[in-house]
Amino acid sequence: MFITSKLRNGAHQRDAALRAFGETMDKLGIDQIDLFLIHWPVPGQGKYVEAWKTLIELRQAGRTRSIGVSNFNRDHLERIIGETGVTPVVNQIELHPRFQQRGLREFHLEHDIRIESWSPLGSGRLLSDPVIAGIARKHGKSAAQTIIRWHLQQGLIVIPKSVHQDRIVANFDVFDFELDAQDLELIRGLDSPDGRTGPDPATAAFLF
Ligand SMILES: NC(=O)c1ccc[n+]([C@@H]2O[C@H](COP(=O)([O-])OP(=O)(O)OC[C@H]3O[C@@H](n4cnc5c(N)ncnc54)[C@H](OP(=O)(O)O)[C@@H]3O)[C@@H](O)[C@H]2O)c1
Repeated sequence: MFITSKLRNGAHQRDAALRAFGETMDKLGIDQIDLFLIHWPVPGQGKYVEAWKTLIELRQAGRTRSIGVSNFNRDHLERIIGETGVTPVVNQIELHPRFQQRGLREFHLEHDIRIESWSPLGSGRLLSDPVIAGIARKHGKSAAQTIIRWHLQQGLIVIPKSVHQDRIVANFDVFDFELDAQDLELIRGLDSPDGRTGPDPATAAFLF
């Protein structure tokens, strides 16, 4: 088991963050968590650096083994690293063949920050894409397995969501084939600046 949780947007202030973290640990019934993330930067609120400093404190106190962020753009990452000298181990961002985030990925490589892809299957919408279907047929795999394999070959951490046991099992069965250069080129062509399915981190302001 590797347990991750996140700090909600309305709890970026130090006191609120410590309280929220304590509640999470009580609910989980554990003393130390593996990874704790800031869910969204909410730049309009202006408190994500304070939240990051609190996570650093929690790591120093041994309450969480690692700390990271989610939905942080380059400017948000530069700010927390610049103000604390501490780099997040991961950033969990929306990433899938239709929204490949190539520029942001470069920055992560330079700073040794691992990316976790959220909505890795495009919230399921990419499963009917004809390009993906063609590549899947060629390898005798499903569309979901093809997309999951693409994430792995890009060096991304990929956690697809399913409520069906058979799909969860099938989604792990991706280590017996490899996408070739032609497949990767075709998937590269699916990238779109409008491909985002979720909120934009630069403007997302919800506090739950
Ligand atoms: N950090 C953030 O701000 C953030 C935001 C959004 C999401 N996330 C996280 O990212 C994870 C995944 O995101 P997501 O749920 O939006 O999208 P996703 O993993 O891209 O897609 C999930 C959808 O694909 C379907 N699916 C999964 N495996 C399948 C398979 N083998 N065959 C057919 N359909 C399949 C699921 O249906 P069934 O369940 O019916 O199988 C579900 O409808 C979640 O755990 C979520 O918590 C994080």
